[in-house]
Amino acid sequence: MKKVEIKPGVYWVGGVDWDIRNFHGYLTPRGTTYNAYLIIDEKIVLVDTVKHYLFDEMLARIKEIIDPSKIDYILSNHVEMDHSGSISRMLEIAPEAKVITSVQGERGLRRHYKKNWDFHVVKSGDSLDIGKRKLVFVHTPMVHWPDSMLTYIEIDKLLLPNDAFGQHIGGSERFDDQIEWGILKEEAAKYYANIVLPYGKQVQKAIAALGGLDIDMIGPSHGIIWRSYIPRILDEYVKWAANATENKALIVYDTMWGSTEKIAYSLREGLEEAGVPVTMRSLNTNQISDIITDLLTSKLILIGSPTLNNGYLPSMGAFLTYIKGLKPINRTGFAFGSFGWGGQAVGEIEKVMEVLGWELPVKGINLKYIPDDDELLATKGVGNDLAKLICREE
Ligand code: FEO
Repeated sequence: MKKVEIKPGVYWVGGVDWDIRNFHGYLTPRGTTYNAYLIIDEKIVLVDTVKHYLFDEMLARIKEIIDPSKIDYILSNHVEMDHSGSISRMLEIAPEAKVITSVQGERGLRRHYKKNWDFHVVKSGDSLDIGKRKLVFVHTPMVHWPDSMLTYIEIDKLLLPNDAFGQHIGGSERFDDQIEWGILKEEAAKYYANIVLPYGKQVQKAIAALGGLDIDMIGPSHGIIWRSYIPRILDEYVKWAANATENKALIVYDTMWGSTEKIAYSLREGLEEAGVPVTMRSLNTNQISDIITDLLTSKLILIGSPTLNNGYLPSMGAFLTYIKGLKPINRTGFAFGSFGWGGQAVGEIEKVMEVLGWELPVKGINLKYIPDDDELLATKGVGNDLAKLICREE
């Protein structure tokens, strides 16, 4: 695949990671891209780079356009190594290039690479004239690292926000209108849920900062470039950042001998009977980074585990640890499980829900050994009650 001119004089020169399936614990069934952009003006600017093993691919694309030694600036919008991992090698080829980055970016790059590069440090609101273009830098701390920054080019109406608006989609398509909206939304939601979810307030600030800008293209650092669906993806980000949810339920559970699963299915019956759509996710067959996508827009979260060794199952421990870190708020929770003796799992799950600040309007269900028909009928009734509760909150 060749370089792609996304605006006159602005090129995508990134790398496609076709085969990556696990991005630090986040499953990426479609692979991903690391998007670097080359701006040709009186000064030549490379915006971000690629993971170290795709350096040659990026370099080949740059060579189609210019002699890479002529690069004047390497702009690092974000320190994480999927974007900074090729700066060192790029500087070996363009040793005179300055590295533009934020204050936190300089600190982070020094800690990562132990090099005394020629840094050009910018603050939020600073700009840099590179010829007919002016690059404007806006610091977006914690979207999703302290150093994160976006770059705006008014003359091109182009926003380069690094990880924000990204999606892990690796392929030959470069633009949003080359892929179905449903796939884009799913991957952008998964990306938001797994990477950006804890930072809703910071995302809201970043979106507010974009309010006055004339933008007709957004080039994130992963996946496709937005040009046709900008209002749609902005709408989704506004909802996700506000932790806005729909009246639907997510049941996440694991089971040892099938009792907790029976409870899960009875709850589902009760919820569905009352008109609430339900997504069922067994931790035995679903990975946590996929389940978080379901959680992103679900109002009612039901979590179930049998008791094992005075607590919940280890698979549930991994899931609860993950959601404690991602901090989804404004949810209604409900815990359930089965036990032989002890029976601590349900209470331990409720404690995590309380830490997250979720509403717990109904006491959890905790059944000994194997539920009988009456208990399952009562469980179905609890599902029915929960459905009515979340619908009444509307
Ligand atoms: Fe795509 Fe935060 O790196």
